[in-house]
Amino acid sequence: MTGEYLAGTLREPWRVELPVADLFTQPPRLPLIAPSILSADFARMGEECRGVLASGADLLHLDVMDGHFVPNLTMGPALCASLRRALPGVFLDVHLMVAEPERFVGPFVDAGADHLTYHVEAIGLAACVRLAERVRSLGVTVGVAINPPTSAEAVLPEVGAFDLVLVMSVNPGFSGQAFIGGVLEKTRAISARLRPEQRLEMDGGIGPGNAAEVRGAGCDVLVAASAVFGVPEAKRGSVIDAMRGAR
Ligand code: DX5
Ligand code: ZN
Repeated sequence: MTGEYLAGTLREPWRVELPVADLFTQPPRLPLIAPSILSADFARMGEECRGVLASGADLLHLDVMDGHFVPNLTMGPALCASLRRALPGVFLDVHLMVAEPERFVGPFVDAGADHLTYHVEAIGLAACVRLAERVRSLGVTVGVAINPPTSAEAVLPEVGAFDLVLVMSVNPGFSGQAFIGGVLEKTRAISARLRPEQRLEMDGGIGPGNAAEVRGAGCDVLVAASAVFGVPEAKRGSVIDAMRGAR
C-alpha cells in the first residue's frame, strides 16, 4: 500500500477540490481531524504522514515549541518545508507555542505553512490582532490559542479578527497528557461568538473516548497526537473515524 502511494498510483485523499487555504474557510466536511505529528516516528515522518492522510485525516498539525513559552523543543521551518515538498497538497496547520511568534511568521510561510496559530499568553491580544493582519497579508489563515487557565475573555473582545480559535485542553509542552474537561465550558462560550466560517479547534488529550464531548462543545477541528500515532498503523483509520463521529 505504501509503495503504491509513493508511486502516486492511488488517489491522494488529502487533495481537495478547493484551494488548500479553503480547508478552513470553506471546509469540504466538518469536523476536521488533525493528527499532530509530534507523536509520529520522526525517523519515518513521510510515511507516517502519508499513512494518516490515507486513513482519513484532513490535515497535519505541527507543534512548534521553543523551550521558552513551553519547556520542550520540537520542530522548526525546515521540517515544515520538507513536508510541503513531500506532500504538496496537504494542509499544514502550524501551532506556534513560542514566546515571539512574530519572528517565525515569515520563515513558516516561506516553508509552505497554510495556517499559523499563536498564543494570546505570549504577546497579548492587541499584538495578536496586529500580527494577524501581517499573517493574512502573506496569504495564509491565522488563529489565536488560549491555554487551559486562560479565560475566554482574553480573546472574545477581538475574536472576529481570526480565522480560528484554538482552545488548549492540556497545558502545552508534551503529547500524551490527560484531557482537562474544565475547558469545555469556556469553549461553548467562544463557540457561541464565532461566525460560521470561523473554526474552533481543540488540542490536547483528545481521542475516541472524549471526542463527542469536544464536538458537542462546538469544536470543528480536533487535534490528536498520541491517540492517532500511539496505535498501530492499521488501527489509525478507525481512531480517526471515531473522533469524527463517523462510527
Ligand atoms: C500540546 C500540543 C498538542 C499535543 C497533543 O503541547 O500542542 O498538539 O501534542 O498531544 P496529545 O493528543 O497526545 O495530547
Ligand atoms: Zn498543538
